[in-house]
Amino acid sequence: MSLNKKTINDIDLAGKRVLVRVDFNVPQEDGGAITDDKRITAALPTIRHLLSQNAAVILMSHLGRPKGKIDPKFTLAPIATRLGELVGKPVVLTAATPGDPLGIEEAKTKAAPGTIVLLENTRYSEAEEANSPELSSQLATLADVYVNDAFGAAHRAHASTEGVAQIVKQAGKPAVAGLLMQKEMDFLGGALDDPKRPFVAILGGAKVKDKIPVIESLLPKVDTLLVGGGMAYTFYKAAGKEIGKSLLDADSIEFCKEMLCDDKLMVPVDCVVAPDFDNDAPRTTVTVNGIPADQEGLDIGPGTIAEFSEIIKKAKTVVWNGPMGVFEMPNFAVGTRAIAEAMAQATEAGATTIVGGGDSAAAVEQMGYADRMSHISTGGGASLEFLEGKPLPGVVALDDK
Ligand code: 3PG
Repeated sequence: MSLNKKTINDIDLAGKRVLVRVDFNVPQEDGGAITDDKRITAALPTIRHLLSQNAAVILMSHLGRPKGKIDPKFTLAPIATRLGELVGKPVVLTAATPGDPLGIEEAKTKAAPGTIVLLENTRYSEAEEANSPELSSQLATLADVYVNDAFGAAHRAHASTEGVAQIVKQAGKPAVAGLLMQKEMDFLGGALDDPKRPFVAILGGAKVKDKIPVIESLLPKVDTLLVGGGMAYTFYKAAGKEIGKSLLDADSIEFCKEMLCDDKLMVPVDCVVAPDFDNDAPRTTVTVNGIPADQEGLDIGPGTIAEFSEIIKKAKTVVWNGPMGVFEMPNFAVGTRAIAEAMAQATEAGATTIVGGGDSAAAVEQMGYADRMSHISTGGGASLEFLEGKPLPGVVALDDK
């Protein structure tokens, strides 16, 4: 399935005032310096398209969680500067005032064809997360057209995502998807609804509990579901194995027992253990039956890497969410790197490979595999909720095709 919503390619934008929700929630150092501008570069195709139509582009985004208060720590100023460098023209950042924390009134006066205005942090107003109709209506006054390009925030029903889209539509104006939103939905939706087979999902991360809905949603759809990372140890426990000091999600043992009855689900045959959660701790590879009582599993082992890699390389569609081990520590990043390599080879052999956002996306970027995947999602929570089969309110609210 591709996106069944209208996009900016379906409507007339020439000279219009276009209000665009983007997700510029980027990682920053303490002083505000941006450490990864991927979410900004990912929005450029939409922004450039609008500028090419001589639209007045008014952007809005949240940054962090300032909890409805104007807090300079969360200003979008560094983002305005970076975006200006990327598009090669100044970006006007509106000033937050107590009566108008997003600077909506200023945007009205500054928006002009061919220019970019960026509203201050949408979460400077508590009305944003409350999805208040008042804020949605104020935002809607900025829009001849509303565009949602913030896939990363599409799982939030907030004033700048869901609320404003409804008001714009009620006024008989278009509310459509941007090009990034379209790309994300096409890749993720395509994998779920019409995957080329074999279709393999790889799930990792710490807690089974966080992944229960996604396991339940994916297992009926995939040919194989590979489980790694910290959550594998709860599956071991459910199978009656000794897991030593490894992560245990005791509430999920019964769920794991049920899932283990499905032949499509595979857990690691071996793992790398250490006595301490420390990169320099001595490492030992053990089988699933050999985890010592005083050690903890921190990565998948070589037998698992070989088995999982074979399956991944034969796949035609692969979706990956969650690292295979503690990849932040180089000595326990081997499994995660090997899975990235197997996926890269699958891509090169013609498969569609998709990395969900969050930790696995960070790992793939950090390890230099970003260019060898078909798609790396810009959404963490959003991509997970999408894979769980949940409707994303920010997408649902847009005009149907
Ligand atoms: C993200 O970083 O996943 C999105 O920007 C959403 O942020 P949030 O979890 O603070 O809503």
